[in-house]
Amino acid sequence: MNTEATLAPSNLHSPRPGVAPGVRFFDAHPTPDDLRAEVLAGLSSMPKRLSPKLLYDERGSQLFDAITELPEYYPTRTEIGILCDHGEEMADLLGRGRVLLELGSGSSLKIRILLAALEPEIYIPIDISREHLRASAESLAEHFPALAIHATCADYSVPFELPIEGDREGLAAFFPGSSIGNFEPEEARALLGRVAKLIGVGGRLLVGIDLQKDRATLERAYDDDRGVTSAFILNVLERLNRELMADFDLKAFVHRSFYNDALGRIEVHLEALSEQRVQVAGEQFVLAAGERIHVENSYKYDIAGFHQLAAGAGFVPERVWTDPHRLFSVHCLRVEAC
Ligand code: TRP
Repeated sequence: MNTEATLAPSNLHSPRPGVAPGVRFFDAHPTPDDLRAEVLAGLSSMPKRLSPKLLYDERGSQLFDAITELPEYYPTRTEIGILCDHGEEMADLLGRGRVLLELGSGSSLKIRILLAALEPEIYIPIDISREHLRASAESLAEHFPALAIHATCADYSVPFELPIEGDREGLAAFFPGSSIGNFEPEEARALLGRVAKLIGVGGRLLVGIDLQKDRATLERAYDDDRGVTSAFILNVLERLNRELMADFDLKAFVHRSFYNDALGRIEVHLEALSEQRVQVAGEQFVLAAGERIHVENSYKYDIAGFHQLAAGAGFVPERVWTDPHRLFSVHCLRVEAC
């Protein structure tokens, strides 16, 4: 079997020609039918839901990059600080010269800190936002000309395959940004279990986890003064208008974020200001005034709680680093069984 054939989905066109030397592009992006089915199911449920991965179209990925630079959004700069302070030690644990995969690679900024220390043979950035991934991979290739980059456009919330053959034992993976917190704990455990299978027994995962903290700091991080977060969340409706022939009136919705301390999570919703009748892909949905569409959760963990979750997926904790204010944590976990 050749390497391209190991990525199975039917909409696969890979690798794409015309990308920079060193970069190969594998495309298993969800199809328009997948999008339609998922959106219709979410809007038919009670309460209404839209999956957070819908946030990351091209514009959404750009808006998310803008969020990461906001003064209120502490996770990105704090995680980068931890990586800068401990990169060499992380590389010692993860192992040098191997295959390194990254889930939700986005702009691949954080990985630059690790790539210099790890010098992997192959780097596999995995992201759902196709053009953003391509641009990031090409920019990375300019900085690391000797690195083989297998950019993989895929939805990592469902099973997918890596575009490599051969021995899968002991790979290294990086899962930054506390994105695991965007999954229900049970789904997070299942996802970690799939990562354990991808990297094999002895493989190591470096994962960024946002920590529990005071409500005010958390709520500010998900509702900034400049309205970037609002634009990011409302963009999902614009995307549905464009891609699913929907007719959401963007002025009739507001974004609401708050901390749910009983469940230890930030919740992000879109709220209808007045009754709305909306067409989406040929189906009608009615929202009462004040009704919300639940778009995202961001679970916050404490270190022991996250270790427990990871243990349920076959990982043993090897090391944890935090910043001086204990806002954020980066964990090195080893696959013991999968
Ligand atoms: N993974 C990010 C987080 O949970 C995603 C995110 C950041 C986000 N800011 C947001 C999602 C605002 C929705 C709204 O922190």
